[in-house]
Amino acid sequence: MKFQGSSSYIATQDLMLAVNAAITLKRPLLVKGEPGTGKTMLAEEVATALKLPLLQWHIKSTTKAQQGLYEYDAVSRLRDSQLSDVDGGERVKNIHNYILKGVLWQAFTADEPVALLIDEIDKADIEFPNDLLREIDRMEFYCYETREWIRAKHRPLVFITSNNEKELPDAFLRRCLYHYIKFPDATTMQQIVDVHFPGLKRELLVAAMKTFFDVRNLPGLKKKPSTSELLDWLKLLLAEDIPAHALHTADDKVAVPPLLGALLKNEQDVTLFEKLVFMQSRNR
Ligand SMILES: Nc1ncnc2c1ncn2[C@@H]1O[C@H](COP(=O)(O)OP(=O)(O)O)[C@@H](O)[C@H]1O
Ligand SMILES: [Mg+2]
Repeated sequence: MKFQGSSSYIATQDLMLAVNAAITLKRPLLVKGEPGTGKTMLAEEVATALKLPLLQWHIKSTTKAQQGLYEYDAVSRLRDSQLSDVDGGERVKNIHNYILKGVLWQAFTADEPVALLIDEIDKADIEFPNDLLREIDRMEFYCYETREWIRAKHRPLVFITSNNEKELPDAFLRRCLYHYIKFPDATTMQQIVDVHFPGLKRELLVAAMKTFFDVRNLPGLKKKPSTSELLDWLKLLLAEDIPAHALHTADDKVAVPPLLGALLKNEQDVTLFEKLVFMQSRNR
């Protein structure tokens, strides 16, 4: 099993190296990076490339580690026990009928190897990663209700992503391989755009990339636009049939680009950008 990128995903050399190291060492790969740098998509692409089914667990601030293992539905069981006509009372006797299997349970007991994505782990509270240490390390856990050990038949290929909103505990980090997806440089970004818009006119591409990186490099931005915002913006430019020359002024200075709202998503950033354009136009 080796990952070599795919026709719809641009992976840099060091990213491929990290993925293959995780496959070889059978360790979870922790992928960090700004939002929109392709972390979630990486897991999907690797799973597709290696022909592994992908189980996804999207973490929210309220997600608890236990939910990834299993949940015991005591309320339904109580209700069924009171309505004895459910299956003549047979269903209630078997506790397994009231265990809701979480993604880890499903991944551990799958007949074939699978990939498992734990997406945006930094959304959860600080205890969350610590609560999953043993499960991720030993690939096993105990179900008290059914009194059984759930052990991985095959070690799943685990991807964990983080937007870096919170620090992760050292004990957790020690068990993972780590890769930081750097924001793509201009060449890589061009390749990414090519993958999404193969027939894009060079002139528009060059102008849009210049505007995009100008906006991104503006000092003091609260939220820098990311890859996915550039792609959205290009899609709009194409849909509205906006020509390349509308993106900059005749003397090649920055202009307020059309559909700026696709790139900048808060009013302070928009004001900051407009100020810059205004100052540049006065210096002309
Ligand atoms: N390396 C890449 N190759 C191709 N498309 C990419 C790449 N990185 C990002 N994208 C595009 O950006 C979008 C956002 O990526 P996503 O995986 O959701 O980012 P993240 O999970 O890091 O926030 C994807 O849907 C994809 O269209
Ligand atoms: Mg994501």
